[in-house]
Amino acid sequence: MKNIAVIGTGYVGLVSGAGISDFGHNVVCADIDKNKIKHLQNGEIPIYEPGLQELVNRNVQSARLSFSSDVNKSIEDADVIFIAVGTPEGENGASDLTAVLDVARAIGKNLNSYKVICTKSTVPIGTGAKISKIINETSNNLLEFDYVSNPEFLREGSAVKDFLWPDRVIIGASNVRAFDIMKNVYRPLYINETPVIETTIETAELIKYASNAFLSVKISYMNEIANMCDEIGADVHVVSKAMGIDGRISPKFLHPGPGFGGSCFPKDTKALVSMAEKYGTNLNVVESAITANQLQKERMVKKLFKLLNNDVKGKTIAVLGLAFKAQTDDVRESPSINIIDALINNGANVKAFDPAANDNMKKLFEDLDTYMSWEETVKDADCVVIMTEWNEFRGIDLSKLKELVKHPNLLDCRNILKIDDLEKQGFNYDNVGRKKR
Ligand code: UDX
Repeated sequence: MKNIAVIGTGYVGLVSGAGISDFGHNVVCADIDKNKIKHLQNGEIPIYEPGLQELVNRNVQSARLSFSSDVNKSIEDADVIFIAVGTPEGENGASDLTAVLDVARAIGKNLNSYKVICTKSTVPIGTGAKISKIINETSNNLLEFDYVSNPEFLREGSAVKDFLWPDRVIIGASNVRAFDIMKNVYRPLYINETPVIETTIETAELIKYASNAFLSVKISYMNEIANMCDEIGADVHVVSKAMGIDGRISPKFLHPGPGFGGSCFPKDTKALVSMAEKYGTNLNVVESAITANQLQKERMVKKLFKLLNNDVKGKTIAVLGLAFKAQTDDVRESPSINIIDALINNGANVKAFDPAANDNMKKLFEDLDTYMSWEETVKDADCVVIMTEWNEFRGIDLSKLKELVKHPNLLDCRNILKIDDLEKQGFNYDNVGRKKR
């Protein structure tokens, strides 16, 4: 059993800290945000993450997991320190490392024994060397430590599952001692034979970006195939299914939609392109995926306007789904932002509903008219647009929807409604690559 400090209590830090305590270690999740820590100490989880409340409660009750705003003491008491603070998008797509380097300085100042310093946050290649340099400088090279890169692959909405049952664990380190300590941290995963890749620090840092950027490319590729299906009258679901049966392609992340959002793909793709340029090389494919993604979001706006003969002024539009994907309350880079922005700027009345993200979207559009059910939202609407694939939207009764709306216009940006039913109910509809000719 190790004493672990996790610095940063966002969805990565909190899930990782709770998960590592579930592995049997003594974990302190620390943050400089005293208010956040107070809520956590009161058992309040500040993020929407299915399963996290139970995971935290279980480990707090077993006295393996605690929360502290005393970052310095958490560092002093720890054998292993995880850096899990935010790395938001900075200038020209590069990552903003302010928070990460602040933690590195705090670690240097409070280095009172040998420790392993492990970065969970997604950081540009070469950041490990920067962190080590800062720790050496601020600790006056007094004490020994090892640095490890241990990137996370947590998807919002399934982060607990992704942490406890990962496809693989990536450990980047430079000596056996560090690898052995990380093996101890992740012992339950080693026991159940989760693949563990042990490599260099820079390779581990690149694996994270290469993985996220590839998934982004896969999504943009499928979105463009869907757009082609729109023009030739093919069914993108059949194309995607047939492609996914090929083991080399896999059926995952082949679902066309309104464009990818979230706190990772948009940021990580730009950061990787920026890094490549810094190293004198180009990632043309990733750059194209970024462009295709922006165009996809704009295409959804055009599709919506087209359903209303490009005259939305004074029309009432019901936006179902605000989060960038289902099972999260996060609206960062959500395609719904583009839709709402365009509608408001063209004089439409917007009614919006999301099972989890209403409040977060109102932080961006403070006058946004939000509702607590899809039924209230669609009442008297001239058009309905489905932006997020929440299950309750999959289950919409189209005959009931038809009765509630003023005009039966509908754009399904997630292809979750049955086309035959839409046609039977006489909807004037559009979607992403499935419209019948
Ligand atoms: C992603 C990575 O999956 C995860 O490994 C990394 O640690 C963090 O970033 P996340 O952004 O939370 O996770 O969600 P994800 O499920 O990957 O979806 C990202 C975006 O792609 C969403 O906007 C989603 O709607 C979109 N998407 C995903 C598609 O449009 N089609 C798909 O088939 C899959």
